[in-house]
Amino acid sequence: MNGEIKTIGVLTSGGDAPGMNAAVRAVTRTAITHGYIVKGIRRGYHGLLKEEIEELNSKSVSDIIHRGGTVLGTARSKSMMTPEGQDRAAYILKKHGIDCLVAIGGDGSLKGAASIMARGIPVIGIPATIDMDVACTEYTIGFDTAVNTALDALDKIRDTSASHERVSIIEVMGRGAGYIALWVGLAGGAEDVLARETYDGNEQVIVDHIIENRALGKRHHIIVNAESVGDSEELAKRIETVTGIETRATILGYLQRGGSPTCRDRVAASVFGEKAIELIDKGELNKVVVFRGNVPLGEDIRTVITSEQEMTDLEYLNPRKLVRT
Ligand code: F6P
Repeated sequence: MNGEIKTIGVLTSGGDAPGMNAAVRAVTRTAITHGYIVKGIRRGYHGLLKEEIEELNSKSVSDIIHRGGTVLGTARSKSMMTPEGQDRAAYILKKHGIDCLVAIGGDGSLKGAASIMARGIPVIGIPATIDMDVACTEYTIGFDTAVNTALDALDKIRDTSASHERVSIIEVMGRGAGYIALWVGLAGGAEDVLARETYDGNEQVIVDHIIENRALGKRHHIIVNAESVGDSEELAKRIETVTGIETRATILGYLQRGGSPTCRDRVAASVFGEKAIELIDKGELNKVVVFRGNVPLGEDIRTVITSEQEMTDLEYLNPRKLVRT
């Protein structure tokens, strides 16, 4: 146990990701076993700003390892993006005797944690987002479940696509990143994958590919489209007009965020959660837990900061100062 830290707060924030519950469970149970008090914060930073905080015990997190979503609830907090909101978040944590915050979420949530660190409250980040777009880690909780859900959908759409001899566009999530599209496209044997990282927007290449495949006797043509590339319905209309082949778009949407986490996500979340408490024990604070070559490590939480402005904002703050509002 770390002598300076007695109470640990835990929250889930941003888009929910399957496995968040397993991470909350691992953080809570490991922390309690190591002698810490654990306080759960409901509805992410939004709930923190409203002081929705309650003590958790070992039983509070029983029967959740297999459940999708997050039992703590989550939200996207606009206030937490402002210096005033961040000041207030640090003040509320202090008021509730929380000596260290474990924040479970994606890029934005980890940046929120970094802003709290800059206000003198130690933090640990755990990356959890289906998008897998947190640059410093090789894995984020939720990705495996999301890609398997999307892959299952692709396999089903292929059946109907082949029966009707249609072109099918399947739009997947990922925000600005194409990982879900690339993995699902590869695993599902899609004919085309459109991801911002690899697609130059040349639709003629896709059209030619469809026509070529038809000439070869292929009965379906699956295109996986990352949400950041563009409107799948409009793309379907354009392809149908040019090729004369019936084309349908399916936007998978939020179903990719739900469902019982896969074994990989439960294990990753459990390892991340345990590592978070180990870092606190060792006094290795203000870290984000990352996977590097499948080994969990602690990386400086400032590695989640991607713009110079964000870094300047952090450095500007006296790390020991706690602003009272
Ligand atoms: O970050 C996860 C994610 O599901 C993205 O893939 C998607 O772009 C976004 O969240 C949707 O956000 P919201 O839940 O705010 O609509």
